[in-house]
Amino acid sequence: MLNLGILISGRGSNMESILKSIKKKKIPINAAVIISNKPDAKGLKIAEKLGVSIEVIESKGFKNRWEYDKKIISTLIKYGVTPKNGLVCLAGFMRIISPEFVKKYKNRIINIHPALLPSFPGLDSQKQALDYGAKYSGCTVHFVDAGMDTGPVIIQAIVKVKENDTVETLSKRILKEEHKIYPEAVNLFARKKIKVVGRRTIIS
Ligand code: GRF
Repeated sequence: MLNLGILISGRGSNMESILKSIKKKKIPINAAVIISNKPDAKGLKIAEKLGVSIEVIESKGFKNRWEYDKKIISTLIKYGVTPKNGLVCLAGFMRIISPEFVKKYKNRIINIHPALLPSFPGLDSQKQALDYGAKYSGCTVHFVDAGMDTGPVIIQAIVKVKENDTVETLSKRILKEEHKIYPEAVNLFARKKIKVVGRRTIIS
């Protein structure tokens, strides 16, 4: 079976929804390891409770991205999350990964972003959407390429922006959708239903 590694830095609610969906919806993938770059990430406790192996690889002090990513890769491989048989999910992982890592795991690293890409990439997307005055925002699951939030889109969900929304209220409604589409994308990947053709993904 395919092996899944999830990279987190904090709360871990997307990680939790993926792990729970794997069990509940019988997604054919083995949750092999959760890796955090922060020792105090809340998600680590959740993963432990759900019986999934955890590893902390502190990123503090690393100047060179590839040097750090090599440590991540060797841990992924230790758990069977290989470039041939693995899927890597970034779930609130607050680091940009190196082009070398992306290349090694080509079309095997996916990310969730709290906006409808290509709008509002980078940090604070919900605030960006509000400041811009967008009437709709949402979230996007996409493959990771060497750019910032630029890889081929797998699934998007739309969230209507309300006139009285704050960053908190909008983020909460977007997060609810994130928890649906991220497990769905993992399911599609695990069932080999996603084909990447240039910038597009074809879902069968
Ligand atoms: C989510 O909003 C996700 O879209 C963004 O970072 C946040 C992580 O939240 N990339 P959590 O750690 O999954 O709860």
